[in-house]
Amino acid sequence: MSDVTTTYKVRFEPVGIEMDVEEGETVLDAAFRQGIALMHGCKEGQCGSCKSRVLSGDVEMLKYSTFALPDYERETEHVLLCKMHAFSDIEVELLNFDEELLSHAIAVKSFDARLSKVTALTHDIRLLEIELDKPMKFFAGQYVDLTLPEAGITRAFSMANAPVEGTHLSFIIKKYPNGAFSSQLDGALQPGAVLTAKGPYGTCYRRENRSGPMLLIGGGSGMSPLWSMLSDHVQSGDQRPVRFFYGARTRADLFMLDEIKAMTAALPDFEFIPALSHATPDDQWDGETGFIHEVVQRRLRTEPLAGVIDAYACGPVPMIDAVLPVLQMANVEPDHIYFDKFTPATR
Ligand SMILES: Cc1cc2nc3c(=O)[nH]c(=O)nc-3n(C[C@H](O)[C@H](O)[C@H](O)COP(=O)(O)OP(=O)(O)OC[C@H]3O[C@@H](n4cnc5c(N)ncnc54)[C@H](O)[C@@H]3O)c2cc1C
Ligand code: FES
Repeated sequence: MSDVTTTYKVRFEPVGIEMDVEEGETVLDAAFRQGIALMHGCKEGQCGSCKSRVLSGDVEMLKYSTFALPDYERETEHVLLCKMHAFSDIEVELLNFDEELLSHAIAVKSFDARLSKVTALTHDIRLLEIELDKPMKFFAGQYVDLTLPEAGITRAFSMANAPVEGTHLSFIIKKYPNGAFSSQLDGALQPGAVLTAKGPYGTCYRRENRSGPMLLIGGGSGMSPLWSMLSDHVQSGDQRPVRFFYGARTRADLFMLDEIKAMTAALPDFEFIPALSHATPDDQWDGETGFIHEVVQRRLRTEPLAGVIDAYACGPVPMIDAVLPVLQMANVEPDHIYFDKFTPATR
């Protein structure tokens, strides 16, 4: 029996980039291996970020969500690169690509890691800190796949720290009652526990050296990548207006308020805009209320920002789905809207 791996050529249009893909490997994984940063989100056929069109060649799709790729799109040769195998040389048209990103990739690698600390930030939000065996390079806003090898569970988590700390990574994680990964953060996982981290992944990272306003929009554990981006922005010395919209249900779901205040005290034009969707009388809340997309819409209408806006939105899928049209209606350029949907893992 031969153990020679069959390899095919993939050519991406309109950018003219070529790479190899091995039989049994998805096109997106082949790109990660070769340091080519294609647009992607969940890597699990759930979000549609990697949607492209096959121009020629034989391909097959693994199981994916028809929300990400409806049947009528599949019929017109649209594909999800995270769920596609090639069976010949192929040509693919990238529908979504970012020239800056394609030339800016950090190759994905695996790291051994140990848990160093878990801290409760609210009743259901935890700060997980881990130590890698070697430093990892990443851009603020990116994520890794964390695996608990004994339990065989892998989940995506966005780094909360700025990318300067070498082997130290932290993550802000929401606990789900029966969450295979997150429910282990209150006891089952102790300091010293072994994990692996694979990454960095993700295209929703802070774009540097821009002068227009920056919008950070999130809810729940969406704080994780936004805090990383905000920390990185402060450290970079870039000067630009920043509006940080953060949605929570009640006052008890807000956290890191003092840290945000301290971190941004020296920024010349910064506003943190927390909003409560389910404020109770006990909250004695006189700030913004409603869902965060409503608050973004209201604010952009009543206090328009001058200049080319970059908007970063991270968090639960319904929140992102509600925010994106608001940004489009407010004339934020589509290629200046960056987002990460925290899609649940497929089981
Ligand atoms: C690109 C990306 C980045 C992410 N970054 C983060 C992050 O920084 N912090 C973070 O907390 N999470 C993040 N997630 C989500 C994370 O990967 C897990 O899906 C989440 O932690 C739940 O995993 P679990 O094993 O605890 O729950 P699971 O065992 O997978 O699910 C258990 C139950 O919990 C509920 N549930 C799980 N996930 C969700 C969800 N997203 N929305 C609604 N209900 C859900 C469902 O009822 C599900 O049946 C990210 C996801 C993606 C794709
Ligand atoms: S559907 Fe491919 S990255 Fe989400």
